[in-house]
Amino acid sequence: MAATGAEEYVPATRDLGELADAAHACKGCDLYLEATQVVFGGGQRSAAVMLIGEQPGDQEDKAGAPFVGPAGRLLDRALTSAGIDRNAVYVTNAVKHFKFTRPERGKRRIHKTPSRTEVVACRPWLIAELDSVRPDVVVLLGATAAKSLMGNDFRLTAHRGEVLRFPAADGAVALDVDPQVVPTVHPSSVLRGPPADRDKAFDALVADLEVVAGLLA
Ligand code: URA
Ligand code: SF4
Repeated sequence: MAATGAEEYVPATRDLGELADAAHACKGCDLYLEATQVVFGGGQRSAAVMLIGEQPGDQEDKAGAPFVGPAGRLLDRALTSAGIDRNAVYVTNAVKHFKFTRPERGKRRIHKTPSRTEVVACRPWLIAELDSVRPDVVVLLGATAAKSLMGNDFRLTAHRGEVLRFPAADGAVALDVDPQVVPTVHPSSVLRGPPADRDKAFDALVADLEVVAGLLA
């Protein structure tokens, strides 16, 4: 069955609690079928900084909260190192249900990157969160989040750590907010990289987050 996207499930409200409740009923794409539950964003409701990841992972899917697993712990450390208060930010994902494969029956669930169709289907939730939180700075963690809001041709490697703005409305993304936007890598990429490179990759993530801290100062 062709899914129609999240649009029809998103209520006309800026109340984050109402949005999160409504997301439980979303069938905007097929990812709700296999996941445990929707994982909506969380944190400070009028945060100056909104961080956007890709999609919940295995632990987030079980807990129902974003960035509580290994990537979340790394992100917490990076935020602390950059001087950003983890309790003062809002954290969410481009896609709200966990997409995974099981290489063998009954075995561990392995993260699968969401398709462009799924990212676009879920974007109305993300836009509603942006409209509600109205952050001064948005941090795009990884290519999925970056392409969701900057366009499918956006090159993260060319622009990480820069201070940008969302592109002018192209019909697809009509935003009522105009925050400063800092793209950087996804914290999982630091964990997945070769052990010898991890410290360097972590420091580079912190350096990008220090750009964010500088905008807040
Ligand atoms: N990775 C993400 O992109 N988001 C999470 O919530 C957890 C891991
Ligand atoms: Fe809805 Fe997003 Fe979940 Fe798809 S991934 S069902 S669009 S909340």
